[in-house]
Amino acid sequence: TQKPRLYSGMQPSADSLHAGNYIGALLQWKELQSTHDAFFSVVDMHAITVAQDPAELREKTRRTAAQYIAAGIDPSSSTLYVQSHVPAHAELAWVLNTITGFGEAGRMTQFKDKSQKQGADATSVGLFAYPVLMAADILLYQTEIVPVGDDQKQHVELTRDLATRFNARFGADTFVLPEPAIQRETARIYDLQNPTSKMSKSGETPAGILWLLDEPSVTAKKIMRAVTDTDGEVRFDREHKPGVSNLLTIFSVLSGRTITDIEQEFAGRGYGDFKKALAEVVVSEFEPIRARVLELLDDTAELDRLLAVNADRASEVAEATLATVYDRIGF
Ligand code: ADP
Ligand code: NA
Repeated sequence: TQKPRLYSGMQPSADSLHAGNYIGALLQWKELQSTHDAFFSVVDMHAITVAQDPAELREKTRRTAAQYIAAGIDPSSSTLYVQSHVPAHAELAWVLNTITGFGEAGRMTQFKDKSQKQGADATSVGLFAYPVLMAADILLYQTEIVPVGDDQKQHVELTRDLATRFNARFGADTFVLPEPAIQRETARIYDLQNPTSKMSKSGETPAGILWLLDEPSVTAKKIMRAVTDTDGEVRFDREHKPGVSNLLTIFSVLSGRTITDIEQEFAGRGYGDFKKALAEVVVSEFEPIRARVLELLDDTAELDRLLAVNADRASEVAEATLATVYDRIGF
């Protein structure tokens, strides 16, 4: 029997992924890849919806792929590829653009937020059409499950609407309707310096972001300086103790221990000890990943070969869907 098809991706928009991407996405992907037929993409075509330096984009794309692998995505059982290597993404996106309402696309809250920040002239049509490209990504692989953060839920709903519309107009069995698998609330990681906003590549406090590829001493320093509170108690309380709660979440996920267990260990011991122990937990998780990434980046020819093989595998599935679509619309 076939395993359910799963699709997810991340943009190559920074030199390193961060603890939020690792805990909120990669760890989940790693867990899901054995029970699913998984496709994991580095979505460079999404990244160019805002201006990119070409050499930096190429480098970030390789680094992102290397981090997927180093974090445990197995490129021989999962299909781990770079989006632009599979032309069918752009081709299906164009077709889907023609059945997407202008108003419908304009209602996407992520577009509204981003375009408002950039201003109308700096906002590209590509940014406007971003969710349609994402729909193409998902539908090309007849995806059943899409692990996403809740900020992407609206885009998966649009994907379902477009699939339903296409199926109704051109043939009921063209696309599988995908289901979002919304990331667990416990997998949400916050900025260490600003623990009520989510850790993000575009965060405004550099010391608040734990990069997967930070040197161990930098990781430790950021954790020791993380914002907490004045009551001195290692206790989980998201509302009143967001800083400590965030650190407890990271500790718990990476050590596999319950929050209660960790609270008990550090009862009456103050934040210094707690942070020191957390730094050890994070470094021992991230350091082997960093070392493996550096190894992979040391042989870019081999990494590129691996990505090419995986892009071929992705293309086979994507081309089959695209051929059906082209046939049904009269191409
Ligand atoms: P960023 O906000 O850093 O640019 P993306 O929006 O590109 O991250 O998200 C890539 C993946 O990482 C998504 O699956 C998203 O849900 C997850 N993710 C991003 N930030 C966090 C976070 N702070 N906590 C948990 N998961 C996160
Ligand atoms: Na983002």
